[in-house]
Amino acid sequence: MTERNLTFAANWKMNHGVAAARAFAQKFLTHTSPVEGRRLWFFPPAVSIGALSEAMKGRPDIWVGAQNVHWEPKGAYTGGISIPMVTEVGARLTLVGHSERRHLFGETDEQVARKTRAALVAGITPLVCVGETLAERDGGRTEQVIVRQIGALLGMLTAGDWRDVVLAYEPVWAIGTGKNATPDDAAQIHELIRMELGRKGVKVKVPILYGGSVNSGNVASLLTRPQLNGVLVGGASLTPEGWAELIDRGSKAKVRPSGGFDMVEG
Ligand code: PGA
Repeated sequence: MTERNLTFAANWKMNHGVAAARAFAQKFLTHTSPVEGRRLWFFPPAVSIGALSEAMKGRPDIWVGAQNVHWEPKGAYTGGISIPMVTEVGARLTLVGHSERRHLFGETDEQVARKTRAALVAGITPLVCVGETLAERDGGRTEQVIVRQIGALLGMLTAGDWRDVVLAYEPVWAIGTGKNATPDDAAQIHELIRMELGRKGVKVKVPILYGGSVNSGNVASLLTRPQLNGVLVGGASLTPEGWAELIDRGSKAKVRPSGGFDMVEG
């Protein structure tokens, strides 16, 4: 049993087609067992969702999701994939608004909010990513950016909708760069997000994962902060042994109240 509920989410990005996903699952399953209070989430490329869901079928602690979906269920959107299509092959989750979607593919706050709403209506869990770029951070605009990104969601969701939303705070400057926020940096932004949601009338406690160059060497210290409910991991989730080790180390992290931060139940 983990000390609190923790989610370990693997974002494979454009890695691991069907054969590689199956081979990953086979090895990974020999390295991990279900642990009460611990959720293991995988976001493979869309073509691998079906095979990975099938391979993980016997493990209720493991859920598979899409990296991106369209908000419409069908239509003339060349290259798009809809929520009914990914759920048909086993997806129970979707990433929304990952920084690569926002910055490389021009996804707007409004589109992110529409996708989030569509996921909730369809009954799958959206894992919605927010985070500032290096220029925004250096310009002292971190808070403003996060509040704007959260604001777009608040504009489209009811207070009750938040019960089924999971957020990820991923500072863009920390993604794939080897630089990660310190545990206190991350905890501080998680607090900021919770305060902003509270100010806008969201009563439920929304889980918030941290992401950005998380690896098996830093996961335990990040998860000492009670404000973090788990991690979203790219590069370090790509090998079954490495990912299993990261999960194991993170699961053993002991919560320690950090200077000036309130304890938040997880
Ligand atoms: P990274 O990616 O762990 O490779 O930094 C995280 C993410 O993009 O979700």
